[in-house]
Amino acid sequence: MIKESDLKVLFDAEAIQQEIAKLGKQLNNIYKDEEIYLICVLKGSVMFMADLAKHLKMPLKMEFIRLSSYGSAFTTSGKVNAVDIALPDLNNKNVLIIEDIIDTGHTAKFLIDFINLNFKTKDLKFCSLLDKKVKREVDIDADYYCFEIDDKFLVGYGLDYDGYYRNIPYIGYVEV
Ligand code: IMP
Ligand code: MG
Repeated sequence: MIKESDLKVLFDAEAIQQEIAKLGKQLNNIYKDEEIYLICVLKGSVMFMADLAKHLKMPLKMEFIRLSSYGSAFTTSGKVNAVDIALPDLNNKNVLIIEDIIDTGHTAKFLIDFINLNFKTKDLKFCSLLDKKVKREVDIDADYYCFEIDDKFLVGYGLDYDGYYRNIPYIGYVEV
């Protein structure tokens, strides 16, 4: 079990909020007054989605889906499990997927393929708080992200270790 005192701070709460505010501005400029659907990928993206949405000025709706990838507490396996993927009609809508982190990219690919298979969206973009580019196994990229990170296991601000530490307001890491 990891103790909170073992965590090293990578991004403090202020740095996170600063980057999210910047991203919010960028998205306001891109979408202007066009309506968008934010798709929050539970559970890890809950903090990011809530904070980002507060900066957005266009009409928007929030949807929540739940995916999980099998693996140990520290790794993802590439097999994505759709726990709850009920979505409204996204045909002809602007859709922005909100993720906490892209690691191997399997979750992102699964979700983008799923939406493209089921809907003809007006526009589909992928937004992630964190991007672990060095770990990528599939050819996929975030359209928007706040921080690029190297291969560290991160917790806090939505990210968990075995379900814990999602509530920590900063992002920290442990050496594995
Ligand atoms: P991917 O499918 O390998 O890109 O992994 C995506 C999911 O793995 C994320 O949405 C997270 O839930 C989880 N994940 C990947 N890296 C980390 C990490 O460093 N800490 C906590 N969860 C992670
Ligand atoms: Mg996630």
